[in-house]
Amino acid sequence: MKRTPAHAYLGFGSNLEERRENITNGLAMLRESGQVKIIKISSLYETEPMGYTRQGLFLNAVALVETDLSPQDLLSLCKSVEVQLGRKPTVRWGPRILDIDILMYFMESGDTLPSDSENVIQVELDTQALTLPHPRMWERGFVIIPLAEVSPNLLMADGRRIKSLIQDFRMWTGLRLFETGPWWQEVGVNCKGWQIMRFAEVESTNTIAVNLASFGAPEGTCIIAETQSAGRGRRGRLWHSPSGGLWLSILLRPKIQSPDVGWLSLIAGVAVSSAIRDTFQLPAVVKWPNDVLVSGKKVCGILPETRFIGDEMDFAVVGIGVNVAIDTSLLPRKVQETSATLVSPDHPFASEAREALTVSLLDNFSLLYRQFLSEGFSGILQEVKEYCDTLGREVIVSHLGMPVHGIAVDIDSDAGLIIRTESGEDIHVMSGEVSIRVPGAGYACE
Ligand code: BTN
Repeated sequence: MKRTPAHAYLGFGSNLEERRENITNGLAMLRESGQVKIIKISSLYETEPMGYTRQGLFLNAVALVETDLSPQDLLSLCKSVEVQLGRKPTVRWGPRILDIDILMYFMESGDTLPSDSENVIQVELDTQALTLPHPRMWERGFVIIPLAEVSPNLLMADGRRIKSLIQDFRMWTGLRLFETGPWWQEVGVNCKGWQIMRFAEVESTNTIAVNLASFGAPEGTCIIAETQSAGRGRRGRLWHSPSGGLWLSILLRPKIQSPDVGWLSLIAGVAVSSAIRDTFQLPAVVKWPNDVLVSGKKVCGILPETRFIGDEMDFAVVGIGVNVAIDTSLLPRKVQETSATLVSPDHPFASEAREALTVSLLDNFSLLYRQFLSEGFSGILQEVKEYCDTLGREVIVSHLGMPVHGIAVDIDSDAGLIIRTESGEDIHVMSGEVSIRVPGAGYACE
């Protein structure tokens, strides 16, 4: 009987010459050996050197691979790739063209990934040539963060999931997200990643994404800006976008019908809420249809924009604005009353936290989106309901220009809100401004 292949996590690091190409070439050579199949690769992270600090910044990444090789043979292959790419002996923690470490190695009895399977044996080894799991990996943010990106549900020895470390700001010290997505394809991994384009200042990331979409940009294009001079909110409002926030727009090309568009906003809302919970441990919830609140204050707004050709969707741009670490005194007084920032802009790790939130948000979004595409709304409905704080509340929604008053009882298959009026009639509302009744007060609006 053929043995089920093993899975291993490999850590890559380079700080000499063409760092990105060194890692890309290393991965490609492993794949071309025919003995290693690359399952998933993290983003590239740029990190400050440890130990011997008088050397250039490193680029690091982690890959999950499948292999029939034993740990020792896998190590030999990795070392031979390093040498073929020109690695020379150096001081411990010194500069290097490419370093490939085996971090963890799992033998399985099933065919699932390590994070999902209960029938997995983690190999422990302590020989002169190889110690498994890698003895220093848990102290290294440049290993933990990309590892958590590749397999967020990987169990640690204390029973926690590795994704819980993403919110530990110490892990982000000296680390920054360098590049996500497209570099995977250069390695020959058939994995749809995000193509992120970062800008210092733009008028509106949505406008850029819509323009790029019209020129044929692919699904997965993601525009992120440091500030927006004319950020757009719903109903033609201005969206104030000072530095410290996360202002991004995601371009999608799903083959869906127009009534399904509402699901894209709800997917974004759940992805943002879950990322906020994981990164900041704050109780973020979705306010149907397009907002994310923390303790009743708006921390995120979502603006979907779509173009149809006939009945067929050409593209959707989902604009997401998160007040991660903004100076709220820069917002107009009325907006200040109803909005909040997740952390103070003076927080020493504000920018690291924003990177962590970005990675988590995009990861959540792609999981939910793929589930929606494969299973339809029923595949994500339960999760949406769990995050949607509007359900069960007394609301007033403007519907066809008229206020509808009642209890929000459910979400329908078109992502509409079902409101049960006092007379017991269920009204399906497709979009609108929701005001939620606050006990003892009037209605709290946006
Ligand atoms: C709302 O009114 O609540 C929606 C706000 C959406 C703001 C985001 S920020 C990124 C993207 N670019 C824009 O111009 N708007 C969206």
